[in-house]
Amino acid sequence: MTIAPKAACLVTGCAGFIGSHLTDALLASGHPVVGVDIRPRAEAVNLAGAFADPRFHYMERDINEHGVLAAARQVCPDIRHVFHLAAVVMVAFSMDHPELTMATNSTATRALHEESVAAGAQAFIFAGSAAEYGDDPRLPLKEEYATDDTEQASPYGKAKYLSSRLMQTSGFGCSLRFFNIFGPRQDPSSPYSGVISKFITQAVAGKDLTIFGDGGQTRDFIYVSDVIRSYLIAGGILPNPRTGTAEPLAGIFNVGTGSIMSINELAQQAIRSAGASSAILHAPARAGDIYHSQADIDLFTRTTGFTPDVDFLSGLNQTVDWFRSTR
Ligand code: UD1
Repeated sequence: MTIAPKAACLVTGCAGFIGSHLTDALLASGHPVVGVDIRPRAEAVNLAGAFADPRFHYMERDINEHGVLAAARQVCPDIRHVFHLAAVVMVAFSMDHPELTMATNSTATRALHEESVAAGAQAFIFAGSAAEYGDDPRLPLKEEYATDDTEQASPYGKAKYLSSRLMQTSGFGCSLRFFNIFGPRQDPSSPYSGVISKFITQAVAGKDLTIFGDGGQTRDFIYVSDVIRSYLIAGGILPNPRTGTAEPLAGIFNVGTGSIMSINELAQQAIRSAGASSAILHAPARAGDIYHSQADIDLFTRTTGFTPDVDFLSGLNQTVDWFRSTR
């Protein structure tokens, strides 16, 4: 008996925090991967494991140079699953660069989506964002709350919304609207890096932690391995636990935990988990900061049976261990 080879996948943004974990997971499940990223290969440090796999093909390319799928299919003709993560990822950067953000997060998504439809791809999974909801006070946030009338706080949120809408109106493709993702490989080095990566790096180094605002703001933090499982189910790589069959999803789905934590609690827990004695300082609230953010995950759970596996504390401890190991 011969076993049919698994279909190839395209992952844009493959060298980033989430893209690299997704690439590793797809390779581990037997799928060849063409990974596209703007970073030069030498800077793609998250892909050390993937580079050792002969089924992985790296393409250094800006997503704004359209024709990405055609180029990837020259390397691997049978690409059936498209995971589109490449984006301007920093909200604050998007405020200063609205045109680049629109081009990258909206126009380039549309172009890749059109190519994927024309090529007969089976799955197109777009990385949406909780930022699409703006500062909506109706918590927990349901998918239908983001509409054409929503005022997103940033070009980042607006462009992500337009791309999610495209998944819905075209009838092909799925947007996973992620809340606050954390875990190993999240880059702590920019002033706008995710709060958990910053707090852990600071605590492990014995430095003080700075909370912007009063620290009463809350976030719905989800661990990266749960995010990767949501991708594999949505992309039809893993069977949908509810139906038992591997089928790509269509539409828009929140992906979070449904639970929230305040930034004050987070700072204290990060210090405890790192075994540190750092002080907690306060600075003025960041412009455009949303106060509360919490996902309603009912739609994704009802559709797929997915619930997050990793509780916050064990995710935080695993992240602390990883940051220690990289020092
Ligand atoms: C995050 C995402 C963004 C996504 C958005 C969806 C990151 C880096 N950003 O933004 O891509 O679109 O969720 O809603 O994951 N804070 C401190 N001290 C610090 C750093 C942050 O107090 O040193 C506070 C911030 O002011 C904020 C909270 O922690 O209130 C979370 O900040 P951050 O991790 O940057 O994420 P979001 O702004 O929620």
